[in-house]
Amino acid sequence: MSKILVIGATGVIGKVLVDAILNAREQFDTIGIFTSEATIKNKKDLIDSFKSRGAVIRTGDVYNDDDVLNVFEGEWPLTRHYMALWHYYDTVVSAVGRFAIDKQVDLIALAERSPTIQRFIPSEYGTDIAFDASSASEKPHQKKLKVRAYLESDAVQRLKYSYLVTGPFADLFAGYMAAEPRVGNFDLEKKEAILAGDGHGPVGMTTVSDVGRALVAVLKHPEATENKAVLVHSFVATPDELLKEYERQTGRPWTVSYTSMDELKKIEEDAWAAEHPVASIFTLRRIWAEGKTLYEKTDNEAIGLTKTDTLEMVIQANIASPQAAFQSGKL
Ligand SMILES: NC(=O)c1ccc[n+]([C@@H]2O[C@H](COP(=O)([O-])OP(=O)(O)OC[C@H]3O[C@@H](n4cnc5c(N)ncnc54)[C@H](OP(=O)(O)O)[C@@H]3O)[C@@H](O)[C@H]2O)c1
Repeated sequence: MSKILVIGATGVIGKVLVDAILNAREQFDTIGIFTSEATIKNKKDLIDSFKSRGAVIRTGDVYNDDDVLNVFEGEWPLTRHYMALWHYYDTVVSAVGRFAIDKQVDLIALAERSPTIQRFIPSEYGTDIAFDASSASEKPHQKKLKVRAYLESDAVQRLKYSYLVTGPFADLFAGYMAAEPRVGNFDLEKKEAILAGDGHGPVGMTTVSDVGRALVAVLKHPEATENKAVLVHSFVATPDELLKEYERQTGRPWTVSYTSMDELKKIEEDAWAAEHPVASIFTLRRIWAEGKTLYEKTDNEAIGLTKTDTLEMVIQANIASPQAAFQSGKL
């Protein structure tokens, strides 16, 4: 049994992870959430629902060392009678967003100092940042690479870690790309698709629900996942196959166009030059189109993630709920 603390719990993937952990709550001693007063106020309904399902809510400033240590270690109860109220944690699950990735180095240093924390799962849930030699120079990977380097350095002697690598979220990949449709887009309303490359490039992807299940599996299999990247996916599919499934389920052909790899690289370069806020996403789209989500072997079986969501389910869900968060183009 373990005592799990989630940081970044109300974000795009954080709330899915917390939901999955709470669904498996009988397998954990304590499930805690460390968040800010601002989030408590702004996302009251979500926080209340986590609380009603048994999550312990701790507030503080993630940039304040004392606040962080206080939450990691909890407060010793004055007498044994109150031991059940001692909410310390042994495992940190981080799902902080792209703009706070490097902050995790400080959190890891505090976790290493904190006697109760044994395991730190940093915010990854995406592309394999060590896929091949080219990965080391990809701009979107830099902060996550620094976090990995720190976890693997001599500064960390005690903590164990696991990197959960999922490839793109299938729900998003098969959705509407508001920021720049040319990098890959499925427009359900207009029945139009723009496919990256020639549309035939396979991509290993994971639904957000399966990311949640995979995290629970990682938490439940500490030995099999200790100090390594855990590679999972729900399925492998080409953009063309996604389109065909949309056509099948909507009962009509869609209009399709393609963005060649050269065009994709140009869009990416222009976005970085213009300091576009989601230039990283364009680079990731190019990396995915290059086949860099395909592994000889995944760890699905090793962690018991054998039954996964399917391509049909993703398209069905996107058609049923086109306005859902994962369809909104927020990336
Ligand atoms: N594979 C994919 O397709 C895909 C897609 C999206 C994201 N991801 C990955 O998933 C991870 C989480 O991303 P996300 O989009 O879920 O994140 P997000 O929604 O942008 O933010 C997650 C949480 O991080 C905390 N946070 C945000 N900004 C912060 C700051 N400046 N300082 C401290 N904390 C901050 C907040 O925590 P509170 O909830 O406590 O307020 C926020 O809810 C990242 O590693 C990202 O790369 C992967």
